[in-house]
Amino acid sequence: MTAKHVWVLNGPNLNLLGTREPAVYGHTTLADVEQLCRSTAERHAWVADCRQSNHEGQLIDWVQEAGRAQAAGASVGCVFNAGAYTHTSVALHDAIKGSGLRVIEVHISNVHAREAFRHHSYLSPAAAGIIVGLGVAGYALAIDALAQLSKA
Ligand code: DQA
Repeated sequence: MTAKHVWVLNGPNLNLLGTREPAVYGHTTLADVEQLCRSTAERHAWVADCRQSNHEGQLIDWVQEAGRAQAAGASVGCVFNAGAYTHTSVALHDAIKGSGLRVIEVHISNVHAREAFRHHSYLSPAAAGIIVGLGVAGYALAIDALAQLSKA
């Protein structure tokens, strides 16, 4: 049997993790985060498919592709940190709703303790769950959450 995939999508500026505002986001790089996701996925006998883009349209295409993979039974869903597009993108909201993709929304920082413009998320109403403010550990917790949800 082929292993199911868990998609891990990171949006704009998350390629800068490790050097970007370390007081907010820490010193862990995106490569470290992706390695954490791969080893967490392995614990569930899954394969992590990790992708990052600074482009909204690319993220929309991947959400649609991940939704098709989930519908085909090849994927359990997606861990998604959409970065600043979280707070601006109706199109990503529509992509999640339209594709039926099971999304756990992740934010490394506690967006609710930061500027007011970060308090609203267009993704949250379309997400199965949200993990906020637990640092990069939130990605691993999101994969564990997908394991719980996919059993339910
Ligand atoms: C972020 C929070 C967003 O407000 C910000 O634009 C990011 C990262 C986080 O992981 O804490 O790029 O999603």
